[in-house]
Amino acid sequence: MEPPSASPRAGRGPWQELLLAVSLLAFWNPPTTAQVTVESVPPNAAEGKDALLRVLNLPGDTASLTWFKGETVLPTHKILLYVIDTKITTPGPAYSGRETIYPNGSLLFQNITLNDTGSYILQIINQKFETALVRGQLQVFQPVSQPLLTASNTTVTKDDSVVLTCSSNNTGVSIQWFFNGQILTLTDRMKLSQDNSTLTIDPVRKEDAGKYQCEVSNPVSSNKSDPVRLDVEDDSTEQSSGLPPGAIAGIVIGVVAGVAVIAALVYLQYFRKTGGASDLRDVTEHKPSASNHTHTFQIEEVAYSSLNFNVQEPKKSTSASSSPAATETVYSEVQKK
Ligand SMILES: *[C@@H]1O[C@H](CO)[C@@H](O)[C@H](O)[C@H]1NC(C)=O
Ligand SMILES: *[C@@H]1O[C@H](CO)[C@@H](O)[C@H](O)[C@H]1NC(C)=O
Ligand SMILES: *[C@@H]1O[C@H](CO)[C@@H](O)[C@H](O)[C@H]1NC(C)=O
Ligand SMILES: *[C@@H]1O[C@H](CO)[C@@H](O)[C@H](O)[C@H]1NC(C)=O
Ligand SMILES: *[C@@H]1O[C@H](CO)[C@@H](O)[C@H](O)[C@H]1NC(C)=O
Ligand SMILES: *[C@@H]1O[C@H](CO)[C@@H](O)[C@H](O)[C@H]1NC(C)=O
Ligand SMILES: *[C@@H]1O[C@H](CO)[C@@H](O)[C@H](O)[C@H]1NC(C)=O
Repeated sequence: MEPPSASPRAGRGPWQELLLAVSLLAFWNPPTTAQVTVESVPPNAAEGKDALLRVLNLPGDTASLTWFKGETVLPTHKILLYVIDTKITTPGPAYSGRETIYPNGSLLFQNITLNDTGSYILQIINQKFETALVRGQLQVFQPVSQPLLTASNTTVTKDDSVVLTCSSNNTGVSIQWFFNGQILTLTDRMKLSQDNSTLTIDPVRKEDAGKYQCEVSNPVSSNKSDPVRLDVEDDSTEQSSGLPPGAIAGIVIGVVAGVAVIAALVYLQYFRKTGGASDLRDVTEHKPSASNHTHTFQIEEVAYSSLNFNVQEPKKSTSASSSPAATETVYSEVQKK
């Protein structure tokens, strides 16, 4: 039942000096037992917690057990030696004080550190001084700290783009995005970077406004960022909600100034042309000084000035990205009686 080719007799020499080739499992297989294996419990250990390298199917005729740190069986890599008969445990150079060996071969690590990550070798010597080597592996992860979520801009205008960046102090984390507390559903306007650390929304829409969070996780923990609120302003927000007082004042001043300039021009034109047939000659501001001139005809002038300030919402126009600039129209109407 056991593959004979996989069961070479192990060397009987001094086990301390034995160098390992790669991936050795059990060298010798007692005929009545299954293969010896080592598993990590839990498979992914969290820094500061305990972890066990558990030995399964330890042969009944085991005489001594020795754990080594690393890939090779070297005296300097020895952690602990346990002799079954005497129940005596002897620490080696690689013993940190946090390891415990049990009679069933399992090795307990307390307060595990990142440095404990790596390969371990258990050397089993039986009562016939036959040696078996079994390899185990520990994977230790640090609990992840809180990631920091930043936005290129938290108040954007519709159709702008925005980049959200999730930064983590931890390596080897995977990143998950949340929108208003729910896992973010990507739309075709959203793109994640290869490692999921940046989210680009282009173009931004009104419905993208809300609370964003990122969550980093590794096999032992996860941690969510503080939320970042994204505001999306409508293109026409300014117009529909009324212009700021400053803008209104500016426009009024501009319009008044424009009318004044036109009036001044018209006035000048009137005095330049003496008898002119131009339509403009009749146009002037209400001015008593006009009568001082030597014009023979008498005119009564009435000047109408009608301003039409008209703001158009781009929303109503078909062009999506029309300029939001206000359109002003000034009609100057002059009538002669
Ligand atoms: C070996 O003993 C330890 C401590 O009693 C125990 O936690 C572990 O489960 C045992 N391993 C096996 C394979 O029974
Ligand atoms: C665990 O180990 C760290 C250093 O690696 C030490 O600061 C801490 O006090 C230890 N905790 C316990 C409970 O032994
Ligand atoms: C980590 O382990 C190596 C040997 O594997 C040792 O040289 C080093 O000092 C350890 N570092 C810490 C911080 O314990
Ligand atoms: C998240 O990380 C912070 C430190 O950055 C830590 O204080 C907090 O306990 C962690 N939360 C979780 C759920 O691990
Ligand atoms: C954020 O976006 C708004 C609207 O597009 C823009 O007016 C503002 O200048 C931007 N702020 C920064 C810091 O880029
Ligand atoms: C991130 O790492 C830096 C040093 O690399 C450290 O000063 C800082 O406290 C860490 N932040 C968190 C949240 O763990
Ligand atoms: C990125 O996130 C998606 C789900 O949003 C996930 O399926 C994928 O595995 C993640 N990729 C990485 C490298 O974390």
